[in-house]
Amino acid sequence: MTYHELYGKLVLLSALVSLALVTAASATEQVSVRYLPEARLWILDGGEVTYVVGVNERNELQHVYWGNRLWRDQDWRAPHSIPQWDGVDPSTNVTPEEYSGWGGARFFEPSVKVSLADGVRDLVLKYVSYEIHNGDLVLHTKDIRYDVAIDLDYHMYPEGVIRKQATIRNNTGQVVTIESMQSGTWYVPHGDGYRLSYLTGRWGTETQLIQEEVHPGMKVIESRRGVTSNQMNPWFALDGPDRATEDHGSVWFGALGWSGNWKITVEQTPDQQVRVTGGYNNFDFMYPLRPGGSLTTPPFYAGATGKGFGEASRVFHRFQNSEILPRRSAGRPRPVLYNSWEATGFNVDEAGQMVLAEKAARLGVERFVMDDGWFGERNSSRAGLGDWIPNAQKFPNGLGPLIERVKKLGMDFGLWVEPEMVNPDSNLYREHPDWVINFPGRPRTEARNQLVLNVARDDVKEYLFRVLDQLISTNDLHFLKWDLNRHFTEPGWPELPIAEQRTLWVQYTNNLYEIIDHLRSKHPNLEIESCSSGGGRVDLGMLNRVEQVWTSDNTDAFDRLRIQEGFSYAYTPRIMMAWVTDVPSFNDRRTPLQYRFLVAMMGALGIGGNLNKWSEEDFIQASHMISYYKSIRVTVQYGDLYRLFSPRQGSFTVNQYVARDGKQAVLFVFQHAQQYGRAAPTIHLHGLDERAIYHLKSLDGKLAEKMETASGAYLMHHGLTVELKGDFDSTLVLMERTN
Ligand code: GLA
Repeated sequence: MTYHELYGKLVLLSALVSLALVTAASATEQVSVRYLPEARLWILDGGEVTYVVGVNERNELQHVYWGNRLWRDQDWRAPHSIPQWDGVDPSTNVTPEEYSGWGGARFFEPSVKVSLADGVRDLVLKYVSYEIHNGDLVLHTKDIRYDVAIDLDYHMYPEGVIRKQATIRNNTGQVVTIESMQSGTWYVPHGDGYRLSYLTGRWGTETQLIQEEVHPGMKVIESRRGVTSNQMNPWFALDGPDRATEDHGSVWFGALGWSGNWKITVEQTPDQQVRVTGGYNNFDFMYPLRPGGSLTTPPFYAGATGKGFGEASRVFHRFQNSEILPRRSAGRPRPVLYNSWEATGFNVDEAGQMVLAEKAARLGVERFVMDDGWFGERNSSRAGLGDWIPNAQKFPNGLGPLIERVKKLGMDFGLWVEPEMVNPDSNLYREHPDWVINFPGRPRTEARNQLVLNVARDDVKEYLFRVLDQLISTNDLHFLKWDLNRHFTEPGWPELPIAEQRTLWVQYTNNLYEIIDHLRSKHPNLEIESCSSGGGRVDLGMLNRVEQVWTSDNTDAFDRLRIQEGFSYAYTPRIMMAWVTDVPSFNDRRTPLQYRFLVAMMGALGIGGNLNKWSEEDFIQASHMISYYKSIRVTVQYGDLYRLFSPRQGSFTVNQYVARDGKQAVLFVFQHAQQYGRAAPTIHLHGLDERAIYHLKSLDGKLAEKMETASGAYLMHHGLTVELKGDFDSTLVLMERTN
């Protein structure tokens, strides 16, 4: 029975998980979106959050409130613009406008900037009307003179997360060229002393958490690379002058749902107003709207909590699980997969993969994924990209025999593809040299020996759909690891009029989404992993249409602790693929197999080692760990994460996961390097029921407390002690609620 069949049959488990999700959703307070006509403002309530926007006396939309949930409508008054202090900063420049056009006296980062064919470059937006339907609030605004309309769309989710999205419509008779179009602006309470958290990195070191003070001026986090990027991720968090911790304090956080060029500007104005504006990156942006044309921004999702960074992450994880990730796989925990890349590189063939598949099946792996090297003349990164047919020497009978074998072994089969790319040495490029992004007559940068197909072109989009559709149908594929291994350079689209060529930045991503959506609707069993040289395409736009992501090409278990910690600030562990690989690692480090397993078990577990080199003891230990993982994965993937000790401080990393129904909790403890005589600190558990009794089970006897049961109160207030020794020691403690 393959993984899919098994889960098709285990409707019960699925139903239980869905039930847990439903219960979780109904436990949060109801969503309410309403208009108070007297005060001329709209209130959006959801989860533990209230968001209020109103209309001021100048008929401008003005931000009023975003924070902990409030309940009394009579507390609200219509907003008033901020009075002018001096001539250089008129009131329009200091009033927290909800969505500002660049026009009039406004010198901050605008939400939208346009130029009209008649030479006017000024856009002053006023409120026109509103609609509330199906829980969505739409605020209609329009320029004071021209028929340029902007609709602001708000959706409040039960988790207390708000989605903002804006649509511009050109109802004039002339071309309106958009130079910047942002999804929206978020305001935190007026004042200074804020701190910004964001995720940065590079290849092999993604999602490193950075925290720095916000000062007057602008801090920009962005991608100009055509894709989300390994270098910066479109997530931010702000906390106030009293500095939030994991458990306490106000945190405002958000993320863009866009996989192309994006930008988030965190700005403190000279009058101490911190504002966060995000959407399409306006670098090299030019989007002409013909009369009647429109453009919608990416969604910008954001939440707020008074309970620290831990709660901010948990809210966002729940929100992603219930609202963002594909619904059809919502109740299906991520299967344990095997991936061939680190074991065989480009050197894949039928016999070799069959041997690996047999060994993977013995371990309890549920999905076998063949990575790069199976197609065209792909023996290295130099050739074959674009030719998505099995290499005849490596697979003389096509992929059929391997897939059949994998299925007989009880696993699903998945395949690596990198559809948006082409090697110049490929049949596809020889047939369609004009399909790549380029400036005619200019040298083209080849990164990893490849060029980027212009997916913004409809013929390229249709071609890619056809090729992938056929690949999936012929081989009955259940899984694609969808990769992209270089960023955009020389981003020309010579076939279009010059004024329209830069629409590539938007159209590429829209077409990519369309291909994926179309494939998914045609192949209801298909699951996808988003990969881009590791974690280069992890964002809420992609997560809306894929089941999981590749976190980083760096699989060194110790390095992973930081990468995974940063990742967990923004994204749910359910989608965070983490493989156990061989030592010495990517970073030349040797860590014990148990340590590597426990690090990977904190996300969606995969195995990426060369099983041909594993000893019998390795197999025994790995099978045990995999079956252990299966017994805790619902808690890890859907549960509440508590980051108890950060790998950024001290010698320990400790994470705890609590099941949504409270029945199970799992504690992971890692010691990096031991100082002589220095024992592990007491670990106070979180998120348990004080009155409940828990069975305590130590994975390996390293739990100092030898009692069989303990109360939630004891575990949280007295705490636990573990006995770890030396470098890279680790342990796990399982707690099962007994009553
Ligand atoms: C990228 C991915 C890897 C692997 C290789 C194959 O680097 O991140 O996991 O798939 O490509 O070429």
